Amino acid sequence: MSISNVVESIIFPSYKQDLNTWVKQSKALSLDHIKTNISPDDGLQGSVLASPQRSNPDYYYHWVRDAARTMSQIVLEYARTSGEEQKNYGRMLEDYVEFTKINQTTPTPSNSVGEPKFYVNGQAYFFPWGRPQNDGPAQRSLVLTRWSHELIANDQKDYVTGVLYDGTDPSFSVIKTDLEFVAHHWQDPCFDLWEEVNGTHFYTRMLQRSSLREGAELAEILGDTGAANFYNQQAELIENSLSEFWDDEKGYFVATLDYVGGLNYKSSNLDAAVIIATDQAYSAKFPFLTPCSDQMLASSYALHQAFDSLYSINSVNQTMEGEPIFPGIGRYPEDKYNGSNSNGPANPWFLCTLALSMVSYKASTLFKSEGSITVTSKNIDYLTMSLNTLNSRLKLKVGETHQAKSATFKTLCNALIALGDAYLNRVRLHMGECGALSEQFDRSTGYMTSARDLTWSYVAFFATADWREQSLSR
Ligand code: NOJ
Repeated sequence: MSISNVVESIIFPSYKQDLNTWVKQSKALSLDHIKTNISPDDGLQGSVLASPQRSNPDYYYHWVRDAARTMSQIVLEYARTSGEEQKNYGRMLEDYVEFTKINQTTPTPSNSVGEPKFYVNGQAYFFPWGRPQNDGPAQRSLVLTRWSHELIANDQKDYVTGVLYDGTDPSFSVIKTDLEFVAHHWQDPCFDLWEEVNGTHFYTRMLQRSSLREGAELAEILGDTGAANFYNQQAELIENSLSEFWDDEKGYFVATLDYVGGLNYKSSNLDAAVIIATDQAYSAKFPFLTPCSDQMLASSYALHQAFDSLYSINSVNQTMEGEPIFPGIGRYPEDKYNGSNSNGPANPWFLCTLALSMVSYKASTLFKSEGSITVTSKNIDYLTMSLNTLNSRLKLKVGETHQAKSATFKTLCNALIALGDAYLNRVRLHMGECGALSEQFDRSTGYMTSARDLTWSYVAFFATADWREQSLSR
């Protein structure tokens, strides 16, 4: 069905712009929206609102995961800027560090650094919740580890050793406190990123691995060699454990193993969390199960297939110019949470749809750095889908390798970008005016729904647009 068949009112003016212009403008707007949600007037400096919405759903909290995602983007902006602009980003990060110290030391129901959310005034949330969520400390330490390298390069090592990583045990510094927790507790069951299932999660382990690998490197640089070795040993154990999530029969990485509690209706065990994991845990220095790995492309393909016919809005699949609009993606096919009701019907999410877009841009970029693409039985469906998106008639065969100089390699890399754009067209269709993004868009009407101005949606958009630029520039 073409976009012209959709109720005219959901087609916002932005949709009529050329894609490149729209991405550029929306990226800048996303950064503005992100900054608006940092250090709200009624909160402590350094807190990050998940969303300004206070009811139905009430997201007026500092979620450790969402805040770390946000700050990961602020670290990138810090690294890219200079002078006053950089100082401003530095202040935001210092505030975040101070707020984090409060989070790490305030008594909470889980009494661990895996406590998932706090009031923006720093107080603990004492009501029942899915806790702990142990991706939190991993996310937080990864972000601050990356910032530490920037600070060291900017002659600010004293702040790093004094506040961020002190090398003592027990530690009084934020990164080391989190890393010690991750290194000693990654085997503990915890709640997943959707705060529903208690068990062992692919998403959580991927973040834990990257935090330990990059944390070990920082520890080494700062002379904490014993800790560096220990973090690397644990990271290796996590890497071995991650292969257990591959289900050969299903053809994708499953989300959770060793279920111990919480919701239990995810019969497929297929979850956007796996793709979000490869995007978020991507480490250029210590790559592992990256977005171009064939198992990740197989998992992305399975997700696409599962959602394509699940939501009626996905039948709108072409722009007026005949450009493809790929399906809106939800958290997992059996999901029932829609923001106001945990009994459904569930909707597609911006950040899940963007995860598939980002995987395509990243895969294109990473294949180019690797210099070849080998077609396997796992990635052939995904690669073929990308060729179809580009209207290419190329036929792939399992076992063939295409080198960087070949025409097929170039076509495949362009096809992956076209695929990323097709998912981005979905986001473009449902985005509000001035680049507004909520958490979800309605599965039937396409209108934005659930928490408005979700910080994580803006962060996902910003990061995806960043990777799009990279993929186009190579
Ligand atoms: C609910 C989501 O499932 C969770 O991942 C997120 O951290 C919170 N909302 C806040 O955005």
